[in-house]
Formats: sequence, C-alpha cells, structure tokens
Amino acid sequence: MDTVLITGGAGFIGRYLARDILKAGMKVIIFDNFMAKSVFYQDLYRQEPTRISIRGDVRDYSLLKEVFLRYQPGIVIHLAAISDANMALQAPQECLSINVDGLNNLFSVISQAAKVRRFIFVSSSYVYGNFHYEPADELHPLDSQHIYGITKIRGERITADFCVKSNIDYTIVRPTAVYGLGSSLGRICCRMIIDALTKKEIIVHNDGNQKLDFTQIDDLIQGFLKVINNSNAKNQVFNLSRGKSRTIAELAGLIAKNIPGVKIINRTAGFKKPLRGALDISKARDMLGFSPFVDIEEGIPVLINDLIRIKDEYDLSIPSMY
Ligand SMILES: NC(=O)c1ccc[n+]([C@@H]2O[C@H](COP(=O)([O-])OP(=O)(O)OC[C@H]3O[C@@H](n4cnc5c(N)ncnc54)[C@H](O)[C@@H]3O)[C@@H](O)[C@H]2O)c1
Repeated sequence: MDTVLITGGAGFIGRYLARDILKAGMKVIIFDNFMAKSVFYQDLYRQEPTRISIRGDVRDYSLLKEVFLRYQPGIVIHLAAISDANMALQAPQECLSINVDGLNNLFSVISQAAKVRRFIFVSSSYVYGNFHYEPADELHPLDSQHIYGITKIRGERITADFCVKSNIDYTIVRPTAVYGLGSSLGRICCRMIIDALTKKEIIVHNDGNQKLDFTQIDDLIQGFLKVINNSNAKNQVFNLSRGKSRTIAELAGLIAKNIPGVKIINRTAGFKKPLRGALDISKARDMLGFSPFVDIEEGIPVLINDLIRIKDEYDLSIPSMY
C-alpha cells in the first residue's frame, strides 16, 4: 500500500485531500504545525479514523527525518505554507522562511532519509502576476511581484531542480481561488458570505470588476487524484481550476440573491493583488482527464447552507489581518 505524506495536511485543501486519498486505499500521514486556525477539524477528522497526524514544523529537520525514517512515504504532497497572500504581505519574512526554507529543509531530509518516488508541489496562480492574457496557460510568464507569488515561483524551481537531480518524479500544481467549507474564513467567498449573514452587507471594491477563477474544493481534489494516479503527470506543471473567470461583482450578486435583505456596497481601493482571470486547464484535461464541473451558481449556495448550518456551533469571526 502506498504511503502518502501530506505537509500542511490539516489545512483546508489538505483535509479534503487526506480524506479522498484514504478512500482510494492509500495510507496517509499528515505533517502540520496546526498554525492555520480553521474551524472544521473535528468534523473531517471523525471521518478519517485511519490517518496518522504528526504535529511539527516543516523547518524542523530532526523531527521530519524521524517521520520519514519511520513511515517511509513513497509520495509526498507539499501544501504547508503561508497560504494566503494577505498574510504573506503582513509577515513577509515568515512567508519566505516557511514557503522557501521549509521546502529546502524537506528536500534535505528526503535526500538523507527517504525513498520518495513522487513529489507534488502545490503552487498558485499568483506565480503569473498580472495576467498578460486570459485564459493563462502554464506557459504564461512567471511574473509575480508579490511576496506570496515570488515564494511559489522559487518553490517551483527548487522542486524541479531537486527532483530531477534526485531522480524523483515531480508535479507542480497551480490552483486558484478555491472555496468550500473549511477554507480560511478570510478568503473572499467565506468572507462575503459571513458578512452577508452577520452584517447584511457585502463590500466590493472598484465595482467588483476584478475576475477570479473560483474553484470548488471537490473539483480541485478530483484533479489532485488524477495527478497522483497518472504517469502523464511526471515532471509536468498543471493549472487545476474551474477554468472560467467570474467577476467579484457576480459573486457578490449571487450571495445577495441567496441571502435575503443583503446590500452590496461599493468602495474605491488601490489594488494589492494581481489582476487575474481564468486559467487555461486544457493541458490537465487532455493529459489527465481532469474535468471540473461546479460553477459558482451551484457551489456557492452549498457553501452558504454549510456556513448557516455551523454558525451557531463555531466561531466564524474573520481573522483581523483581512
Ligand atoms: N486555498 C486556495 O485558494 C489556494 C490557491 C492556490 C494555492 N494554494 C496553496 O495550497 C496550499 C494549501 O492551501 P490551503 O488553502 O489549504 O491553506 P491552509 O492555510 O488551510 O493550509 C496550510 C496548512 O499548512 C500548515 N502550515 C503552515 N506553516 C507550516 C509549517 N511551518 N510547518 C507545518 N505546517 C505548516 C498550516 O497549519 C495549515 O494547516 C498552500 O500551499 C497554498 O499556498 C491554495
């Protein structure tokens, strides 16, 4: 049985990934320092009786080495990161330290102590910076001026260099704007829904004309499983997203339509984030059979209902950095 080690496996994407990899019959080890304050651990963990969870920092060489020697994972999926661009701006040194030094440390351990045959690095659409064209394919220039995107570009290069030298098959995955229950509450979909539920208002900036490729979590996880199981993914880079761009105004309108009595308020603001849009996912479709299908009209009402269902049980206050 394959053993898969997921760094950052207690986070939003990691928990869904762990659940579905376990369902596919593989053994899962989660390595996470549990710094992300997410509210749904209990629910998902109850569904995962067989996963092994280790609390640790990806920068901790000795602990990581011990874990690799003990469990000998054949597949590593690296999600551990400062995963959010706003947080990265607030703590740039920590972002560099976790996202770049943490990865280098992981590779030092793998070179000393492991029999890894497959490595998946989770990057981001931030690597493209302001999109030069849309949809952005994997050959779009890597032009990020943002610390978060810069660490992801660095991570991609370190991964490719190390894995080629070490004869490990690698895949770089670039998701974007992923939403679903358990995502950081500061991310746009959760944040707007919570504001709509609690304050009866949603704020959009600059008329909400900015575009994102909103991706429902199960669609993304489907893509990850294709990457894990398909030899075509060897030493490749894939955009994994819904593959369609929608404006922030459309998202706000959809939420307001589903939660009665909500006002949309427009404000003017400078842009802190790159101007993005749809990713071109034809490479993942053609080479892996990736087929996302959840549009926001279907996925956002489900998320609204999930957040309404749990809002009395959990603290849904949005972290102060947003
Ligand atoms: N959510 C998205 O929309 C999105 C989009 C593109 C890329 N990504 C990337 O996907 C990955 C997972 O994102 P997510 O949304 O699940 O974020 P998340 O913050 O929910 O998960 C990240 C996990 O990494 C852990 N972690 C952070 N620093 C660590 C450290 N030093 N040692 C060990 N564990 C550490 C956190 O505790 C957390 O559980 C990240 O690499 C992120 O950059 C996410």
